[in-house]
Amino acid sequence: MRALVYHGPGQRSWDTVPNPTIQLPTDAIVKIDTATICGTDLHILKGDVPEVKIGTILGHEAVGTVVETGAAVTNFQIGDHVLISCITSCGSCRFCKEARYGQCTGGGGWIFGHLINGLQAEYARVPFADNSLYKVPSGLTDEQVLFLSDILPTSFEVGVLNGGVRPGDTVAIVGAGPIGLAAVMTAKLFTPARIIAIDLDDGRLGKAKEFGADVTINNSAEDAVKRVLELTGGLGADVAIEAVGVPATFELAAELIRAGGKLANVGVHGKPATLHLEKLWIKDVTITTGLVDTSSIPQLLSLIQGGRLNPTVLSTHRFSMDQAMEAYDVFADAAKTHALKVVLAGTAVPVETKPKVAARSSA
Ligand SMILES: NC(=O)c1ccc[n+]([C@@H]2O[C@H](COP(=O)([O-])OP(=O)(O)OC[C@H]3O[C@@H](n4cnc5c(N)ncnc54)[C@H](O)[C@@H]3O)[C@@H](O)[C@H]2O)c1
Ligand SMILES: [Zn+2]
Ligand SMILES: [Zn+2]
Repeated sequence: MRALVYHGPGQRSWDTVPNPTIQLPTDAIVKIDTATICGTDLHILKGDVPEVKIGTILGHEAVGTVVETGAAVTNFQIGDHVLISCITSCGSCRFCKEARYGQCTGGGGWIFGHLINGLQAEYARVPFADNSLYKVPSGLTDEQVLFLSDILPTSFEVGVLNGGVRPGDTVAIVGAGPIGLAAVMTAKLFTPARIIAIDLDDGRLGKAKEFGADVTINNSAEDAVKRVLELTGGLGADVAIEAVGVPATFELAAELIRAGGKLANVGVHGKPATLHLEKLWIKDVTITTGLVDTSSIPQLLSLIQGGRLNPTVLSTHRFSMDQAMEAYDVFADAAKTHALKVVLAGTAVPVETKPKVAARSSA
């Protein structure tokens, strides 16, 4: 089959590789129908995620069709149309029992395109298929559900739910990339009084307005703290969501919250940030961090089915999977191309489906 393969920092190619096979009875093989690229894939290509081995197929967000199931897979059958979560769940470790799938210690967690081959390919092996796949409700398109693999649950769980957004709140979201924009969309579910989006890029702030932000602040042109204080009668935001991942934006988010406020950090940080305890100790604040669990996928699917959430607005470019190299170029040059999410349509020619197979004893 063909797949997008990581060959070390700065190097990727669209290669011919062996088709995945069932290795454990809990595995399924899924034909990838639709996939997308994540900012995290770009981090990997920059060499920021050294545990990704050369030769790994990238990608952790996709929708597909089950073409083969291991002997222990009972919830899914050949032909099922499925959303593949970016987080795999073993279903039996302490954290999976608490629905903290991101922290799985039984072989799951974030493994696709990281510790095992990923989903920007014609086919993929999905470990712990019973716990890690979600049936796509009939009537919904791939593109309607695709961003539930990762970014919608990330913004919702790690941003909006950890931040405890409540009706009437002022929510400040620092960063208006796909994650910040998905935070705007999912914060709205709780009817905050005001959503303030902060970014350096006017194009992205325009999108934030389109997706439901009430106020936008370009913090390269104006003092975001001053403006938020003005808007909140000098108190500060009830909730600040950090959706960038650099020290300056974490420190900004900490300055934006009122006494008793909450800072939900979503950004992936590569450098230490300063926690100004000399200012914060007295303010009763709560700071949360986290990796997405994707435990909210069923809830988000219901919201899409009910017409309350429309993630397709995040798609800006469409390619076929065999144009993945070009799609990466467009996605990586977002300042110029204005890309948010690029959608890759699968190119696998449907194969004859195979019956359930038992695990290989040597696996
Ligand atoms: N915690 C998790 O589970 C999880 C999951 C997925 C992604 N993430 C992280 O979320 C973060 C956001 O992801 P994304 O895909 O939206 O990234 P992105 O790079 O597309 O967007 C970041 C945005 O931040 C803006 N920005 C940069 N510096 C800024 C500054 N100083 N002040 C204001 N805005 C600034 C940029 O203009 C851009 O619009 C990343 O760090 C990503 O790795 C976390
Ligand atoms: Zn991702
Ligand atoms: Zn587990």
